[in-house]
Amino acid sequence: MKVSDALNSRKTIRAFKADPISQEVLTDILETASRTASGGNLQPWHVHVLGPNDVQKLVDKVAAQLPETPMGQGAEYDIYPRKLKDPYKSRRFDIGERMYATLGIPREDKAARLMWFANNFRFFGAPNAFIFSIDRQMCEGQWSDLGMFIQSIMLLAREYGLDTCPQEAWAIWQGTIREMFEIPEDRIVFCAMGIGYRDDEAVVNSLDSPRAPLEEWASFSGF
Ligand SMILES: Cc1cc2nc3c(=O)[nH]c(=O)nc-3n(C[C@H](O)[C@H](O)[C@H](O)COP(=O)(O)O)c2cc1C
Repeated sequence: MKVSDALNSRKTIRAFKADPISQEVLTDILETASRTASGGNLQPWHVHVLGPNDVQKLVDKVAAQLPETPMGQGAEYDIYPRKLKDPYKSRRFDIGERMYATLGIPREDKAARLMWFANNFRFFGAPNAFIFSIDRQMCEGQWSDLGMFIQSIMLLAREYGLDTCPQEAWAIWQGTIREMFEIPEDRIVFCAMGIGYRDDEAVVNSLDSPRAPLEEWASFSGF
C-alpha cells in the first residue's frame, strides 16, 4: 500500500465489526509506529493496549458511572481552546452537523444527539483499543510527537485492512482509566483509540469530512 493510499483511505470510523485483532498484529503496528520521529528522539509516547476483555470492562465501568457523573472526572488538559475562534469554530460546528445529518438526527433532538455521543464510551463497538498517555513534564513539542505517533498507528492500521477512531472524549474518564490500567500519576491521559474492522453497513461510516483548500493554510515563497 502506498502512503498516499493509506492517507486517503483513513477516516474516523464510528461503527466497527466485533472481530478481535490479535495481540501480534497490534504489537507489529506499534513496533513499526515507534519509527515515528520525535524531537531529540525523546519518544515521549506511552500506550496501553486493550484486548476485548478489558475494552468490555472499561465500557461497563464507565456505563455504571455515566448516570451519576456524565462528565466523568474531567480531562486534565483543554481538549479545545476555551474560546475557539474562526475558522476553527465553524469547522467544528460543520463536522458535527454533517455527522448528525448523516445519522438523521435533527438539531433540536438533543437527547438523541447525547445518546449518540455516548457511543464514544463504547468505542463505537471496536473490539480493541489503545490508551495514549504522556509524561506531565512534556510540553507542546512532545505532544506533537505523540500526535505523529498516533497518526503512524492510524496509517499502519490501513495496511492490515483495519480502521481506527481517535477519541479525545475518553480524556474525561482519565481517573477511571488511570485506576483500571495503573497509569502512573506522572502521566496525563491524552486520548484513546478504537481499532478494528469497519462496518460498511453502518450509515455513520459514509461520513466524509471536508478539508479547507490549501490556500487557507499554506503559503509559499522564494520559488
Ligand atoms: C486527537 C483526536 C481526537 C478525536 N476525538 C474524537 C472523539 O472523541 N470522538 C469522535 O467521534 N471523533 C473524534 N476525533 C475524530 C475527528 O472528529 C475527525 O478526525 C475529524 O472530524 C476529521 O475526520 P476524519 O478523521 O474522518 O478525516 C478525533 C480526532 C483526533 C485526531
